[in-house]
Amino acid sequence: MAATRQKHTLAAPILAAGLGMAAALGTAAAQDAALATQIVDALNKVYGVHPGFRANHAKGVVAEGFFKAAPEAARLSKAVLFNGTSIPVTVRFSDSTGVPNLPDGSPLANPHGMAIKFHLPGGDETNIVINALKFFPVSSGEDFRDMLLAVAASPPEAAKPTKLEQFAASHPNMPRALATVATPDSFADEEYYGVNAFIFVNEKGERHAVRYVMAPERLVHLSAEEAAKQAQDFLIDELPARLSRGPVTFRLKAQLAGPGDSTKDASIPWPESNETVELGMLTITKSASDSLEVQKTLLFLPGQLIDGIEPSDDPLIGVRDGAYAVSLSRRTP
Ligand code: HEM
Repeated sequence: MAATRQKHTLAAPILAAGLGMAAALGTAAAQDAALATQIVDALNKVYGVHPGFRANHAKGVVAEGFFKAAPEAARLSKAVLFNGTSIPVTVRFSDSTGVPNLPDGSPLANPHGMAIKFHLPGGDETNIVINALKFFPVSSGEDFRDMLLAVAASPPEAAKPTKLEQFAASHPNMPRALATVATPDSFADEEYYGVNAFIFVNEKGERHAVRYVMAPERLVHLSAEEAAKQAQDFLIDELPARLSRGPVTFRLKAQLAGPGDSTKDASIPWPESNETVELGMLTITKSASDSLEVQKTLLFLPGQLIDGIEPSDDPLIGVRDGAYAVSLSRRTP
């Protein structure tokens, strides 16, 4: 139900505004729209075209629950999300890549993703779209596209150094970022990171740059050998089974930027010693009964924000919104 409303109320205007109008105007927005298309083309090149599925994070499972803010959250942001009432959520957990039948234990399925849609009073929505990478391999949409093209140009038989090896050598945060992930034993036992910075604005007009962290009750990672032995859909199947025994909780936290921390480079982690503020508890209560069908029309956008939460100068937020809308336009009739 929420999924259908989402498709018609959000995706169409975003596409029209982001792609058609911008192209017609010939502005910088037209370049952004062209980049979004190039990125989705590159994802399709690397992972193949799978009608009806996302160009990235194609395999996933949907669940429902609620979010309740901690009192400290309102100190940082006046967003209605943080007013302490119980807010219904739709959550989608996913494997990385655009391959819908990828084994969940494959190293390529890392980083796993978590997308949360908060259904606010009055019909508004805001989204958080995060994954298990502690920081991102690249800091711009152009580099993300070029990384994918380097992957596509580096089949096993490619001459050494491959395009991908060359890309990694010139973007050392890429191999460093990819080394931060491992296969969890459950989508519920993974920690997810926002990577992109957002600006929280409170009632006094004070502004704080933050990055989200979604902390599980326990963090459990498998060794590469254990991961390889798991059944094809072990993560997708485990979540509903776990939820049938009881709820799963996560603590949403905000890591605050310190004085010199960059808000525009998602490939640079902020020091772990930075202050972290509890934002609230996410409780997942049940899996969606028609998960496969529901996710087809769901759209989670990192830049779908509400009063009290603003984008930072991180260029990835806009690039992601554009690419997700292009992917949606290709996966829905
Ligand atoms: C240049 C940067 C990025 C690009 C171009 C990109 C591209 C995409 C695309 C095209 C999709 C499919 C969207 C759809 O069909 O609805 C997607 C999904 C997703 N991405 Fe990204 N992504 C980027 C960065 C990130 C980052 C930084 C994170 C998390 C920290 C992330 C997490 C996810 C997740 C969790 C999904 C699945 C969303 C869902 O369940 O609907 N991505 N990405």
